[in-house]
Formats: sequence, structure tokens, C-alpha cells
Amino acid sequence: MKCTQAFLGAIIGHAHASVFLPGIPTVPFQSNKTENFTIASVKSIIVDTRFADLVDKNGQTLIPPSLFAFAVVFANDLHDVFNISAEVSNGTSCSMSSIFLTIGVADEYIDAGGRQTSEGYSLEVSPSCTIITGASPLGAWWGTRSILQQAILSLADSGSASVPTGSGLDVPGWSTRGMMLDAGRHYYPPGFLTELCSYMSFFKQNTLHLHLSDNLYNNPNYTIDQSLELYARFRLWSEESAVAGLNLFANESYDRLTFDEIQSSCASRGITVVPEIEAPGHALVIAQWKPQLGLDGDISLLNISHPGTIPTMKDIWATFLPWFHTKVVSIGADEYTGPEADYNTFVNVMNSFIGTTSGKSIHNSTWTNVHPNVSVQHWEYFEDNPFYDYILNNYSVVNSNDDFYIVNKYAPPGGYLNTINLTKTFHGSPDGEYWRPNIFDQRNVTNNPPASNAYVLGSIVPLWNDYGYNATVYSEAYYAWREGIPALADKQWGGNLSEASFTSAFDVLHPHVPGQNLDRVIPSLSDTIVNYTLAEPTGLVAGAIADASGNSYTAYTDCVEFEATPGTPALSISGGCSVSTPLESKGRNYTLTVSLRIDSLEAPNNATLISGRDSVLMLTPNITMFAGGNHFRLNATVPQTEWFELKLIGRGNRTFAAVNNGEEMEFLAKMGINGVYFHWAEIALEAPLRIVGGRGIGWTGSFGGMSLTSIA
Ligand SMILES: *[C@@H]1O[C@H](CO)[C@@H](O)[C@H](O)[C@H]1NC(C)=O
Ligand SMILES: *[C@@H]1O[C@H](CO)[C@@H](O)[C@H](O)[C@H]1NC(C)=O
Ligand SMILES: *[C@@H]1O[C@H](CO)[C@@H](O)[C@H](O)[C@H]1NC(C)=O
Ligand SMILES: *[C@@H]1O[C@H](CO)[C@@H](O)[C@H](O)[C@H]1NC(C)=O
Ligand SMILES: *[C@@H]1O[C@H](CO)[C@@H](O)[C@H](O)[C@H]1NC(C)=O
Ligand SMILES: *[C@@H]1O[C@H](CO)[C@@H](O)[C@H](O)[C@H]1NC(C)=O
Ligand SMILES: *[C@@H]1O[C@H](CO)[C@@H](O)[C@H](O)[C@H]1NC(C)=O
Ligand SMILES: *[C@@H]1O[C@H](CO)[C@@H](O)[C@H](O)[C@H]1NC(C)=O
Ligand SMILES: *[C@@H]1O[C@H](CO)[C@@H](O)[C@H](O)[C@H]1NC(C)=O
Ligand SMILES: *[C@@H]1O[C@H](CO)[C@@H](O)[C@H](O)[C@H]1NC(C)=O
Ligand SMILES: *[C@@H]1O[C@H](CO)[C@@H](O)[C@H](O)[C@H]1NC(C)=O
Ligand SMILES: *[C@@H]1O[C@H](CO)[C@@H](O)[C@H](O)[C@H]1NC(C)=O
Repeated sequence: MKCTQAFLGAIIGHAHASVFLPGIPTVPFQSNKTENFTIASVKSIIVDTRFADLVDKNGQTLIPPSLFAFAVVFANDLHDVFNISAEVSNGTSCSMSSIFLTIGVADEYIDAGGRQTSEGYSLEVSPSCTIITGASPLGAWWGTRSILQQAILSLADSGSASVPTGSGLDVPGWSTRGMMLDAGRHYYPPGFLTELCSYMSFFKQNTLHLHLSDNLYNNPNYTIDQSLELYARFRLWSEESAVAGLNLFANESYDRLTFDEIQSSCASRGITVVPEIEAPGHALVIAQWKPQLGLDGDISLLNISHPGTIPTMKDIWATFLPWFHTKVVSIGADEYTGPEADYNTFVNVMNSFIGTTSGKSIHNSTWTNVHPNVSVQHWEYFEDNPFYDYILNNYSVVNSNDDFYIVNKYAPPGGYLNTINLTKTFHGSPDGEYWRPNIFDQRNVTNNPPASNAYVLGSIVPLWNDYGYNATVYSEAYYAWREGIPALADKQWGGNLSEASFTSAFDVLHPHVPGQNLDRVIPSLSDTIVNYTLAEPTGLVAGAIADASGNSYTAYTDCVEFEATPGTPALSISGGCSVSTPLESKGRNYTLTVSLRIDSLEAPNNATLISGRDSVLMLTPNITMFAGGNHFRLNATVPQTEWFELKLIGRGNRTFAAVNNGEEMEFLAKMGINGVYFHWAEIALEAPLRIVGGRGIGWTGSFGGMSLTSIA
């Protein structure tokens, strides 16, 4: 049966649940199609006074926003997307041209497994007012996403941002809906994580599982010393003496304040960050700290029998548990090949320790005699069978089956993909119909519990960085998921978007997802985004460099102007002066063209030409891009003491440069782990735009102009 949500509707007895608005996810809604509620006319968002302070205590987060707080974020979104200034106030009813947020009767909202859910909501849309009734503030928040999406879709459709009159009741099928990011083998800056949360939230996902510790593959051929040198990271930074020495990399870690900010920013949009500290497998970082705890033969596994191991893990959890504002944490506990009895001891001891110290429950990943309050995350069929091993033994399971694995830049053909396979979301049920979180096995129906099985908690889809820190830049994790997040989100919720409707809805919605600019889009009137020519009539006036594109992205400089040739003005880049633009970074696709002359290269291995938010164009002395903490070098440099034009081209997932309109040369990531698994791979680098010049750049010379287009 195609309409799982209609099926859910049938279970819970909503006669009109079989009609949907085409959002991502779809929204069950019965419209009389006679009139519209016009978003442009919205003057206020009124929060039901009785519930303004209410928070949802049933979700996973321990820092749930109040209904009023969600309303404020919604108002900001309306402003960002539609340029509407709606006042947020408290009140008792819906008034003319307002959106009223209130709270309903919780037991009306029942999910696929027959469980009451705080995430449901109802819409009541009349021509003058829209009422969003949440089962909780979080439910109401998801309702605001529906209104926002419908308004964006109708604007594209009819030129007027509106929602059809009518009513609907919407409930997520499953309570765990989200993604897992491997931040252990690759650092991601806090801003990337919070933008990712905004992106996920727009499509009603609610969980960002952060894998916070891991190591590259500990090749059995390594000596102990090589293993001790292998890339292994623990991303939380604490000054507590109990963990002194565990993390040696403060500047690629999250301290408590930063981690708090990530969690609260994500929570403000209904996303819970579920942290994972991985042990007893993938735990090389712990053995690098305390080598005596490593298992003989593979020190990336902990020796649980060593008297120091459990106390060490307890010290780590005792230090960091108070940081985590979530009811559920992940203790990793996958891919451990040490003794099974030890493994079970580990999981049960950690469970009771975490349970008794903090009232949190845990997710782990592979097993047998484990306490039933431990929920399991299923990854791969060669490890376990989630239905037979867990669900039929009354364990709750999160579906992370490898159908949707991303392994960034994985090479072997037929292996893991670099983007989510959308076919598997739209046709991933054994009968070819929509995939759902209860579909663990996309081929064999016998392995799947029905959607109504309450032991299926939901789905978390992972991205792994097996190739480590230097294989990708941050945004490549986003691009791997760009279409996948919304496609999965529809099915994780229980939505019914067809593959054809998905593409059209996505194309319309995507440019307006609030709270993020992961694509690094720069608004522009035409393909030319900026053009600093220095020449009349736009030229230089009192340090302001006009932008000939028409977008008015005026740059400023304190550099001295001179004539490079009669009638051709240029700026002298020396003495720490600079040209700074109001722009930061441009994502796919772009061509950045800059006219420069290098007179003296004071730091031949480290000269900065242009810096931006996500990347730096450098000479080392080869033409180099520095991004995501790594250098990507070409086999070429630029001429000295003569003018040259350098083009940087971001074309799809590849990046090129050309000097004086010569041959395009491609930046590549050199893949591999200490010489094994070597291959070259594409790299998608954002264009740096913020500043040319400044102190300590390592060169002096001249600047003759710069332009950026969205053509590649
Ligand atoms: C509305 O009520 C909430 C909760 O009592 C309060 O925090 C907020 O300041 C009030 N807002 C306005 C605009 O009165
Ligand atoms: C359409 O439905 C809305 C919401 O239920 C209601 O306010 C409106 O009066 C209805 N219009 C007609 C013509 O039935
Ligand atoms: C309501 O909006 C829809 C879609 O945006 C549009 O096609 C329709 O004409 C509108 N109806 C009215 C009565 O304005
Ligand atoms: C270990 O070294 C042997 C001999 O050089 C080689 O054949 C094998 O592929 C290596 N194993 C791995 C996992 O790299
Ligand atoms: C979770 O821990 C239990 C308890 O040891 C273990 O039996 C089970 O295999 C683990 N599950 C996963 C998925 O690791
Ligand atoms: C995507 O999934 C479908 C369905 O399982 C499969 O037929 C197809 O080969 C997959 N695509 C890729 C590129 O692996
Ligand atoms: C389908 O799964 C069942 C239960 O795990 C198993 O017994 C059966 O062999 C599987 N069928 C195929 C064709 O793999
Ligand atoms: C920038 O302006 C100059 C001078 O008008 C023009 O020659 C050049 O084509 C423009 N560049 C772009 C990318 O529009
Ligand atoms: C720099 O470019 C030269 C050719 O100009 C090449 O021989 C050299 O290998 C490059 N160096 C690096 C580190 O890529
Ligand atoms: C960038 O260009 C590629 C073709 O080179 C195209 O497939 C892709 O859709 C473009 N991306 C964007 C964001 O426009
Ligand atoms: C990337 O990291 C791996 C693992 O540490 C290392 O073997 C490789 O040489 C690095 N690549 C580059 C280009 O530095
Ligand atoms: C390279 O120069 C930058 C300043 O532009 C400086 O911050 C950085 O430390 C330098 N790196 C090295 C390796 O010297």
C-alpha cells in the first residue's frame, strides 16, 4: 500500500488524512479550496497566553524551547523569507490577519507505533486567520514549518504566498528522525553544525547524532608506534584533570560553551543533538592517551578486562554527561571484536552508570544480553538482524541500515555512494513502494516489522569520514545530503511525496530554507555577482570601490591608487593595506577572476592572496587553496613582477584554476591512509571573497580588479 500515512490516519481514525498538501514532508489536509489565507497580510503571531511558557518535556531534548520562543523564531523566518514584520504577542484567540499558536489535547496525536507523540499538530486555516495547535510547543513548531512551506510553494505557483483554507491533523510516524555526522574523523565548525540543524529542521527532522570520537583505520600492519601516531580524535575539550591528555587539539574541538551553543541553536529549531563517545571499538584516541588500555593485536579496541578501562570510560562520561542536554546519548559500542562477555559487561556497566548518574538512556550498536532500556542502533546486516535479534526480544531499535550510508569520497565502484540514493527513499520497500523507518531490509520483507511495531524508534542516516580529515571540506558533507535530507525526512515522518513531486517541491523550497546558507548563495540581479573594475565611471571614491554589477556590493580599501598604465588604475598592496568586500564566500557554481601583480614574495610557501569564510587562495609557491584545515595544491604557480589574471572556477563538485586564460587545472584531494587506498578525488572548494591584502600576507604587489559570476 502506497499511503502509509493514510494507513496511519486510518489507525487513528482521521477521515481526511488521505488528502495531502505537497510539502516536504507532505501534510494531511482537507481543503475546501475556496479561499486562501494570505501570508503577506500577516500582522501578528499570537501565542496562547495559557501556554506561552510551556515546554515539551516528552521529546529527547533537555532544553526544549517554550511556545513563545518557537513563535519568535517563526516570526524571524517569515521576515527572512517573505520580508513580513509580524509582531509576536500573547493573547487568547486568533484575530484578523494573525497566526495563533496554541496547544491541544495530547492524546489526539498518535504515531505509527500507536504511541502518543508530542510532535503532532493541527492546522485550521480560514481566510482571516490560521490556528496552529500543537500537541506540544514542538508540535506547533512543525506546524509553522508546514505554513512556511505552503506559502513558499504557492508563491512560486501563483505569485501570492498563501495557504488554502481548510484543516488538517499531522503526526510524525516515528519519533527519531535524523542524520549522523562523523565529526570524529573530520572536524566540523560549530557554524556548519547549526546551519545543518536549520536545514534539517525545515524538513521536520529532529535528531542530529554527532559521532564525536573515532580514528582512521588501524591497519594491522602498523607497528604500535604507527598506531600511536595514527589520526584519532576526541572532539570535546575540557580542562577537567580527569580527562587531561585525552584531547590534544583544542582548536578543532568543542569546548563546553561552544557545545552548549550548538545544542541550544539546534534546539531552538526542534533538533536534538545526540552525542556519541565511541568505545570500546574505534577507540584509538583513548589508547593513545592510555596505551595500557588498548587490546593486544589492535589497540584501537579497548581491553575491557584491564582494571583501568571501565574507570577511564566512567571518568570520560562523568566529565561530559553534564554537557549533554539530551535524554539519550550514544555509547558507540559497535564493531568490537574483543571478547563478547567483556563487551556485554561494558554495555551494561556503562548503561547503569549513565542511567544512575544522569537519568539518560543510551543507544549502542551490536549485542546479546543487554539491559532492555538500552536501545539499539542497527547499522549492517552482517552484524545483526534488527527484527529477529532485538525487536522480537523487546529491544527498541533505530534504523541506520547501510542502504543510505555515505562514505565521503569512497572510491571502489559499487561501494558506498557520495550522495544519498534517492531511489531507495522512493522505492526502497521490498514491494517497490516508499521506504519507511521500519524497512530495515529493502529486499526481504520477512526481515521487516510492520510500521505499527512500537519497537521501531525511527531512522538516523549516517555519513562516515573513513578517509579522514583531508579528503573533504566541510560543505561536502552537506552536498552529500542536500537532496537526501529532504527525501529521507519525508519518509521518516511518514510523508507521501512521490519522486516526481519531490523534485519540483525541492527546487522551489530549497532556496528559502531559513537559518542557513549552506550553498553560500549571494543574492544577485544577474549572473555577474560583483565586479570591481577600479575604472571610471564606477571607480574609486574616498576608499570606496564601486561594484559595477548593479548589486552594490561596494568594497573598501585603504591602499594607495596609482596608474598601472595610463588610464588603468590599480591599487598598491603593501604596508598591510587591504581591499575588503562585504562578501564572504561563494558556493557552487562560480567563476572568480582577479587581476594581480606580485612584486615580492616574502613568504614563498605561505602567501595569502584572497581570504574568505570557507577558503583561502594562496601561493605556496604553487597555486593553493586552503580549506577545511587542508592545503590543495596545483602543479603550477603564477608569474612574478608582471600582471596576471587568475581565474578560480567552482563547477559542480570540482574546482579549477587558470592563469591568463590558459589551461584549466584541477584541484584534487589526495586520498589514502598512510599510502594505502590511494586515489585522487575531486574537491569542491568555495570561492574566498572577503579580503585581498592585510597584515602578514607574505607578499606585496598590486590589485587591478576582481569579479565574480555564477557561471562556471
Ligand atoms: C508572552 O508571555 C511569555 C511567557 O509568559 C513571556 O515570556 C513573554 O515576554 C510575553 N511576551 C509578550 C510580548 O508579552
Ligand atoms: C473553508 O474552510 C475554512 C476552514 O475550515 C473555513 O474557515 C471557511 O469558512 C471554509 N469556507 C467555505 C466556503 O466553506
Ligand atoms: C488560492 O491560492 C491558489 C494557489 O496559490 C490559487 O491558485 C488560487 O487562485 C487562490 N484562490 C483564491 C480564491 O485566491
Ligand atoms: C599488509 O601488508 C601486506 C604485505 O605488504 C599486504 O599484502 C597487505 O595488503 C597489507 N594489509 C593491509 C590491510 O594494508
Ligand atoms: C548494546 O549493548 C548490548 C549490551 O551489551 C549488547 O548486547 C548489544 O549488542 C549492544 N547493541 C548494540 C547494537 O551494540
Ligand atoms: C540506487 O538504489 C537502487 C535501488 O536499490 C539501485 O537499483 C541503484 O543501483 C542504486 N544506485 C546506485 C548509484 O547505486
Ligand atoms: C529473508 O529473511 C528471512 C528471515 O531473516 C530468511 O530466513 C530468508 O532466508 C531471507 N530470504 C532471502 C531470500 O534472503
Ligand atoms: C566587469 O566590468 C568590466 C568593465 O565594464 C567589463 O569589461 C567586464 O566584462 C565585467 N566583468 C563581468 C564579469 O561582468
Ligand atoms: C608545485 O608545482 C611544481 C610545478 O610547477 C611541481 O613540480 C611540484 O610538484 C608542485 N608542488 C606541490 C607540493 O604540489
Ligand atoms: C553547477 O553546474 C553543474 C554542471 O557543471 C550543474 O550540474 C549543477 O546543477 C550546478 N549547480 C548549481 C548549484 O547551480
Ligand atoms: C591525508 O591524511 C592521510 C592520513 O593521515 C595521509 O596518509 C595523507 O598523506 C594525507 N594526504 C595529504 C595530501 O596530506
Ligand atoms: C601562514 O600565514 C598566515 C597568515 O597569513 C599565518 O596565520 C600562518 O600561521 C602561516 N602559516 C605558516 C605555516 O607559517
